[in-house]
Amino acid sequence: MNLQRFRICVFASGRGSNLQAIINAIEEKRLDCEIAFVLSNNSDSGALEIARKKNIPAIHLSEKVFHKNSFEESLIDVLDEFKPDLIVLAGYMKLIPESIIKKYRNRMINIHPALLPKYGGKGMYGMNVHRAVYESGDKFSGVTIHIVNENYDEGKILFQKKVDISDCASPEEIAEKVLLIEHSVYPEVIQSIITGKIKLED
Ligand code: GRF
Repeated sequence: MNLQRFRICVFASGRGSNLQAIINAIEEKRLDCEIAFVLSNNSDSGALEIARKKNIPAIHLSEKVFHKNSFEESLIDVLDEFKPDLIVLAGYMKLIPESIIKKYRNRMINIHPALLPKYGGKGMYGMNVHRAVYESGDKFSGVTIHIVNENYDEGKILFQKKVDISDCASPEEIAEKVLLIEHSVYPEVIQSIITGKIKLED
């Protein structure tokens, strides 16, 4: 029987360490899927570099290059061509157009480096998150994986893991500790979605 493999695509703007963790998990057979393509708004992102090295289609698509409408159309064209089962956001810094969210309702997930609903929303990305956590004096931070909807960081929470940060002396140390956890849990959660252990529908 020739069962088609589950297909994900990964959207990333930056260095792509979560993408690398996903690729490692696939290669080590902890994650049973293929990466149909990697997309970035940033032409020299580490993520595109990683994809190219692995012969994964690496697509650069930016609103700076296109008009708003043609950007959305191009994105839809890419999705229609590759037909991923799941869109995985891993450090994608751009708001996803509403038409794409509608088309991929309950089929798009994001990873956030804190325990949502705290430290989420517009402007809360990258080191901004870890700085806010550090300044709050919280003893715990963590990782949240959630469904993407129309509002930043507000979709249904699928998974959370707490991280003890009481020994962290800077936002950078928090970032490092949280990132390690991201790398272990994101592939696991994607695998649980594939096997149906985690359900995406409300
Ligand atoms: C991660 O911390 C992720 O939680 C956030 O952006 C960062 C991306 O890092 N959304 P990387 O590009 O995967 O290394």
